[in-house]
Amino acid sequence: MNLELPTPESRDSASLVGCIANRRSCREYSEAALSIDVLSQLLWSAQGITGSDGKRATPSAGGLYPLYLRLVVQRVADLEPGIYEYLPDTHSLKRVGDHIPKGAVHKLGIGDQPWLEEAAFVIGVTAKLGDTVRHFESQLPQGERGARYVYMETGALAQNVHLQCTDLGVGCVLVAGFDDLKTKETLALRSDLEPTALLCVGSKRNG
Ligand SMILES: Cc1cc2nc3c(=O)[nH]c(=O)nc-3n(C[C@H](O)[C@H](O)[C@H](O)COP(=O)(O)O)c2cc1C
Repeated sequence: MNLELPTPESRDSASLVGCIANRRSCREYSEAALSIDVLSQLLWSAQGITGSDGKRATPSAGGLYPLYLRLVVQRVADLEPGIYEYLPDTHSLKRVGDHIPKGAVHKLGIGDQPWLEEAAFVIGVTAKLGDTVRHFESQLPQGERGARYVYMETGALAQNVHLQCTDLGVGCVLVAGFDDLKTKETLALRSDLEPTALLCVGSKRNG
């Protein structure tokens, strides 16, 4: 059974200019758990449905929406640690994997990136890369256009999440230096999905 998430806020909050000015990568997290409301808000900012026509918070080339979110939950109140898939249509989570062994998330980073393990949760951004490349095959440069679009969408999504984290006062860092094969394995990805980014989120260690 899918787990319904709390309704996200769409009120006016801190000014956008303030969030842009104050956004910083944060790699030091406390051991505090984050609430499911924070998780819900960030997933909505990333891929939530914001239009009556099904359009989403993040723009998408040709409206294909090739991005899929896989979540590694490490410390979220009232949510079992494990791996979840975000379902935008119902703004809910589907549990797809059990708690991953200690140290496995740390090993996803290229080099030593302990913030992956210390984050309350990691949003894994994944994409139907092959399908998108095929869809835009007629556009020059052939084979590259679709991939460019996927990475642009990932960047737009990451900035939405980052700015929303700033507004909520929680720490976030975008990790694009990760081991592709290990990430596919740990996130239990279907073979048609490629990881494009990991977003670590946690309560800031010093305030
Ligand atoms: C495409 C991209 C990839 C990044 N990859 C990593 C990463 O693998 N690990 C990490 O700790 N930070 C990563 N960062 C964060 C940058 O290091 C950070 O944005 C930069 O140092 C500027 O600092 P600021 O975000 O606090 O303004 C990445 C940022 C971008 C845009």
